[in-house]
Amino acid sequence: MSENKYRSDFPLLKAIDEHNAKDENSGLIYFDTAATAQRPFIVLDAITHFYATQNANPLRGLYDLSERATQAYEGARHTVAQLVNAKEDCEIIFTRNTTESLNLVAYSYGLTHVKAGDEICVSIMEHHSNILPWQMVCRQTGAKLVFMECDKSTGVIPQSEIDTKINSHTKIVSIVHVSNVLGVTNPVKQIAAAAHKAGAVCIVDGAQSTPHMKVDVQDIGCDFFALSGHKLCGPMGIGALYGKKELLENMPPFMTGGEMIDYVTRESATWAELPHKFEAGTVNAADAVGLAAAIRYIQSIGFDAIVKHDNELACRMIAGMKKIPHIHLVGSDDGNKRCGIVTFTIDGVHPHDIASLLSDEHVAIRAGHHCAQPLQQYLDIPASARASLYFYNTEEEVDLFLTKLAQIRAWSGYKD
Ligand SMILES: Cc1ncc(COP(=O)(O)O)c(C=O)c1O
Repeated sequence: MSENKYRSDFPLLKAIDEHNAKDENSGLIYFDTAATAQRPFIVLDAITHFYATQNANPLRGLYDLSERATQAYEGARHTVAQLVNAKEDCEIIFTRNTTESLNLVAYSYGLTHVKAGDEICVSIMEHHSNILPWQMVCRQTGAKLVFMECDKSTGVIPQSEIDTKINSHTKIVSIVHVSNVLGVTNPVKQIAAAAHKAGAVCIVDGAQSTPHMKVDVQDIGCDFFALSGHKLCGPMGIGALYGKKELLENMPPFMTGGEMIDYVTRESATWAELPHKFEAGTVNAADAVGLAAAIRYIQSIGFDAIVKHDNELACRMIAGMKKIPHIHLVGSDDGNKRCGIVTFTIDGVHPHDIASLLSDEHVAIRAGHHCAQPLQQYLDIPASARASLYFYNTEEEVDLFLTKLAQIRAWSGYKD
């Protein structure tokens, strides 16, 4: 199970493989990367290095140590800007995660640009993080939240949905790049073009795409793009929002306080330049540096290699699942179209029971609503199980998982 050259880069996976070497195949199979990826040593080392050698409050001090902390933090911003191909570093705002990035746009852009009678368009497969902020904007402004629906078997959003749901009433289109349930990649370039044709802005939720593919915000043409560091092997608690400079410049701050001001009087304040206008308070510099290390690590592997590996494993898993009676895939059965996200149900066994039986067998998968309840209501499934794969998973893990999966019905008392 250690036939994967990347596994020893990760403390947790290395420990699992050491355990497996002693007690064959009894170590954990981690198939929950879509929830959070594992972290390589390199990321932990970068964080330690920051605190050990550069620790001071960035952006504030005039002394050398603080300047070094600032350089490390701003260097991390440059790495994120390059990851998504932003035109300028100041178009990258550090946030805690995708959720905070989307809330920033909703509170700052949404509440100031949307009025009663307008429409905000999302898709039915959105994570709650890309629904609830827009429900809030709609409640506060009187706008309407509109959902583009998808084909129930493939997850593809038909052109007719894009053409009709994005129209002259639409002010904001916010779309997930890769669904955390269906694994499908949405045509975000086409959706951004449709949004712009209608006079709307387009936001892309890149939580699940950034770990698996090269993202180019200029090519997509989106106005905002949100990502989470922890999904691409970076630390928890650091994420980013890309926004077009001209839009960010004209938006009010999301949060106010230290570091985001230009000048404050008793009655009023003016704001700092981008990106600092949107980064109130002491910043999370160490985790930004950790995220930059994760990005460099992933880039050193290369997205082509990652996609190839994710797809091969997903195809192998799906081919194996098809041989097991009573398993139903949620979404496409083409492993090349799932970004390593394989969601399924088993007749007669609740997904929570699937996950807990597999947990007894040392397999970690996700089960439940995956923070996408409107999608599950639309698909008419109360819950589902999800195995999600990454470049550090192996064929042996997939095969072992399949042998365990084949026994779930028997373990649940079924005879066939
Ligand atoms: C598609 C999608 N959007 C948004 C999020 C929210 O990410 P975070 O919890 O890091 O803010 C997730 C998390 O699983 C996700 O899968």
